[in-house]
Amino acid sequence: MTSNYEKLSVILDFLKSKNIFKSDILLILGSGQSSNFNDFKIINSIKYSEIPHFPVSTVKGHKGELIYGEFGGKKTLIMNGRFHLYEGYTPQEIVLPVQAAALLGVKTLIITNAAGGINKYYETGDIVMITDHINLTGENPLIGPNMDELGERFPQMNDLYTMGYRRKMTKIALGLGIEVKLGIYAGLKGPNLETGAELNMLKTIGADLVGMSTVTEVIAAKHAGMKILGLSIVTNAESPGIASDTNHEAVIDVASKNVPDLMKLIEEFIKEI
Ligand code: HPA
Repeated sequence: MTSNYEKLSVILDFLKSKNIFKSDILLILGSGQSSNFNDFKIINSIKYSEIPHFPVSTVKGHKGELIYGEFGGKKTLIMNGRFHLYEGYTPQEIVLPVQAAALLGVKTLIITNAAGGINKYYETGDIVMITDHINLTGENPLIGPNMDELGERFPQMNDLYTMGYRRKMTKIALGLGIEVKLGIYAGLKGPNLETGAELNMLKTIGADLVGMSTVTEVIAAKHAGMKILGLSIVTNAESPGIASDTNHEAVIDVASKNVPDLMKLIEEFIKEI
């Protein structure tokens, strides 16, 4: 089996051959959250299928392209579409783009997702800033030999969703008049939606949001020393005790309707950091 380290050197050589060099920010967009990036000066856009060793998104609502551009004077890599454990990828495969970005110098991860709402004060369509997470996937991308070039063997998870970034985003949201709520995200492997009992358990252990992504990439980003901002769109507000009856089409529909506000927040954030 080829190690992530060997894969990463091939990926980096490929990206350099496509004029993708040093970058400041990695933006990973969730289900239905692709945008037309009007204000980004796009330098290059590459299909995941062209990038050696890159997984390919198999899910509807995920475009599957890596965009390299400049925004607000900062070099930004955008993952338009992401990979999930439920697609059958290993956690190590899922974090290859995050680790490649780290080796290109990225110090900031902005990550978005579509999530189920557990907190009773959430409504469908809400934008929620993630304050912390609970990894319930039973997986970890850092299992195996530690990549010392990226980070240490036992990385701390303190200030995981960077407080300074959260303060900045709170100010930006107030300025733009966009309501942003706060919450703890529980990451499950999926692909089934939660039972009523599972939603009860998630509420009991302190989760406000539930989804099938994000925690894997965030762990790898923190290991590699990145600061992190996480934003969820609540695509379905759930009632603990009652099994979720949402479906993927509804999730994509709500997630995409709220993209303009989400992008406004993100664009302003990138300008200001
Ligand atoms: N559960 C898990 N993942 C999700 C949900 C949900 O209710 N909504 C969007 N992604």
